[in-house]
Amino acid sequence: MKYAIITGTSRGLGESIAKYLLESGIHVIGIARTDSTELANYAKSNNVTFTHFTCDLSNVVEIENTFEKIKNEVFTDNLTTLYLVNNAAVLDPIDPSMIIKSNDLAYHMQVNSIAPMVLTNLFLKESTETEVTMIGVTITSGAAERPIYGWSAYCSSKASINRYTETVALEQEELKTGNKVIAFSPGIMDTEMQEKIRSTSKQSFIDVNTFIAYKKDNKLKGTDAVAGILVDILNDEGSIENGKIYNVSDYF
Ligand SMILES: NC(=O)c1ccc[n+]([C@@H]2O[C@H](COP(=O)([O-])OP(=O)(O)OC[C@H]3O[C@@H](n4cnc5c(N)ncnc54)[C@H](OP(=O)(O)O)[C@@H]3O)[C@@H](O)[C@H]2O)c1
Repeated sequence: MKYAIITGTSRGLGESIAKYLLESGIHVIGIARTDSTELANYAKSNNVTFTHFTCDLSNVVEIENTFEKIKNEVFTDNLTTLYLVNNAAVLDPIDPSMIIKSNDLAYHMQVNSIAPMVLTNLFLKESTETEVTMIGVTITSGAAERPIYGWSAYCSSKASINRYTETVALEQEELKTGNKVIAFSPGIMDTEMQEKIRSTSKQSFIDVNTFIAYKKDNKLKGTDAVAGILVDILNDEGSIENGKIYNVSDYF
């Protein structure tokens, strides 16, 4: 039996990834602050299960409590493979770094960097101890690889994901656990995150007009198409390259 734990299943890319994994016959656990009745119905029609856990990923104690609950549900004798998809993230605060409020920065780093690291660490330990193969993927961004005016928090949190992925993969190879961790850069997609970018002022984000044009010129990809590519990568388990930062542009 295979389980996938996905963060940010209430909308956008996370919801699409959940749908494709459910279609592949994999049970899905969703973590977000909002439940999804659509995914529960979708699971039923595919003869698998979707279970939602409400958790605010900005709070480490909530993450650890949620992990304990999921662990008891998922790690049974029948479990063969566990997927962890760290998809949830935020873009705010968008502003030149010197005017960003410290609390807003701490919230951002907690959701985008600490939460995926904590979840990956906890599930890797449990999978290794119970001899279940784990495939972990964290959604990264092109912003990890280049500076963008007003996005110091987002560029930094996504860059940390890339280096974390490479480091943990190196450890898992050395320890010969059989577990793999990768990152996946999805390109620009038509989601609420992009709506938020387009509504930013030019003082906060000088490239805002470029992003308004992406939408106008139909340059944003649909989340289903992007999720399909990621799920194809995950379903071809033997070919997954440990530590690789996969980029959707290599597949479109
Ligand atoms: N959209 C793009 O163009 C783009 C480009 C490159 C990379 N990405 C990356 O792709 C991933 C998905 O982005 P998206 O565009 O689908 O985002 P989105 O539409 O804004 O959805 C974000 C998801 O994250 C969850 N989330 C946010 N804060 C949370 C918190 N504190 N606790 C728990 N869950 C939280 C939300 O659920 P709740 O609000 O219900 O909690 C929601 O399900 C992200 O990692 C993003 O950085 C996006």
